[in-house]
Order: sequence, then structure tokens, then C-alpha cells
Amino acid sequence: MASGVAHELNQPLSVIKTASSFIIRKTNQHEKIEDQIMSTMVSKIDTSVDRASKIINHMRLFARKSDMELEEINVNVILGNAFEIFSQQLKLRDIEVIWDTEENLPEIKADASRLEQVFINLLINARDAIEELYPPGPDAKGDKKIILKTRLAGGIVIAEVCDTGIGIPEAILDRIFEPVFTTKEVGKGTGLGLSISYGIIKDCGGNITAKSEPGKGTCFIMKFPAAA
Ligand SMILES: Nc1ncnc2c1ncn2[C@@H]1O[C@H](COP(=O)(O)OP(=O)(O)OP(=O)(O)O)[C@@H](O)[C@H]1O
Ligand SMILES: [Mg+2]
Repeated sequence: MASGVAHELNQPLSVIKTASSFIIRKTNQHEKIEDQIMSTMVSKIDTSVDRASKIINHMRLFARKSDMELEEINVNVILGNAFEIFSQQLKLRDIEVIWDTEENLPEIKADASRLEQVFINLLINARDAIEELYPPGPDAKGDKKIILKTRLAGGIVIAEVCDTGIGIPEAILDRIFEPVFTTKEVGKGTGLGLSISYGIIKDCGGNITAKSEPGKGTCFIMKFPAAA
């Protein structure tokens, strides 16, 4: 497992190496690098660093070096925090966010920052799925929605992140939580988002499942025992 993930590190590192070698070569030859090319190179380095740190975080989680800090938290608050980080780019893409949350939700025991990371992963996936169904362009119209729901049922706090995106084919639905499983192009997805999320939810004593209607949308459903 760890070596499989470590292998994943080679990809962003070689992108960084290629870009930095190019810049060094040009600079040594006193050649000017066009602004456009420079900007592409630097943003490639930037996203590769993000990707590498994500992979490293994942390995850390697996190695259990950083302990979970369980505290009593309100799922609505964490969902709100995750959305905050993202609201701008959802707005930019004309994706409507619909809130359907239960007001007096009991608290659950979870690690707040990790749970926020889970919701961010799910929001990124929802955004990508919507974009895949309605590719950006001059007439990028469509039913672009993310629905965030919470409720209480029989002592269980349920949180759902649903989208009106491309959906997940039945054939791969049971593979999406596997580490490094991705259908996204190289450089876009590492395939770690859901596997990390799965681990975090389990560590919080909960579970996560997915339901999908290909071509219509997907729902990720998380269940946690309410804190006593
Ligand atoms: N909301 C969704 N709608 C449609 N497909 C999804 C959705 N969420 C996940 N998937 C599918 O599950 C795969 C695995 O998701 P996961 O988040 O683990 O990795 P990723 O998004 O490809 O890459 P990463 O999250 O590491 O950047 C995706 O590549 C995609 O095929
Ligand atoms: Mg993802």
C-alpha cells in the first residue's frame, strides 16, 4: 500500500523537475521566457506541490502518525466551513448550492479539520462531475446543483452531499473508495480523495456510501452515531 502511494509521488515530482529544469536552462542561456509559458510552468509547479502534499498526508494517515482528535462537533458547522472555502468557485461556475439541513442536530464525535477535509473532497468531486456533464464553454447551461442535507434518524446523524453531475457507472461504483482509483486525466485526479475520506469517516465511527444514477447525479451518504 505505502509503496503504491509512494510511487504516485513520482508523477508530481517529475512535473516539478521538468518545469524547473526548463526555467534553469532558459535562464542560464539568458533567453527570455514568454509570460504565458512562465505562467503555465509556475502553475504546474504549484498544483504538483499540492498534489504531492496530499499524497504525503495520505501516507501519514495510513501510518497513523498523526492522531485523530475527536471532539463533539456539529456537522452543520463543519459543512458550512467546507462550503465557505469553496463558495466562490461554485458561484463562478454557476453551480447552485441547496441547503436542506436539520437545525437542532445533535453533535457527533469527530475530528473537525479532517471531517472538513472530507466535505471539501466531496465538493470537489461534485464540482468535477457537474463540469463533466456540462463542460465549461459559451453555453455551459444546465441543471447544476449541489444539495447538502443533514438529518437525524434513530440516534444516527446523516449527512449527504448530492450533485446533478455525470453520475457513476454501476460497474465502477464499488471501486471508487479504493486508493488511487480515478477516472480523471493524469494531473487532475490522484484517486485519493475518497479513499482518504473513507478512512476519516471510519475513524470517526461512521460510514460512507455512494448512490448514483448515471447521467443524473450522485449522492454520498455519511452516517455517524450521535454523541451521547
Ligand atoms: N460526485 C461524483 N460524481 C461522479 N463520479 C464521482 C464522484 N465522486 C467520485 N467520483 C468517481 O470516483 C473516482 C474517485 O474519486 P476520488 O475523489 O477518490 O479521486 P479523484 O477525484 O479522481 O482524485 P482526487 O480526489 O485524488 O483529486 C473519480 O475519479 C470519479 O470517477
Ligand atoms: Mg476527488
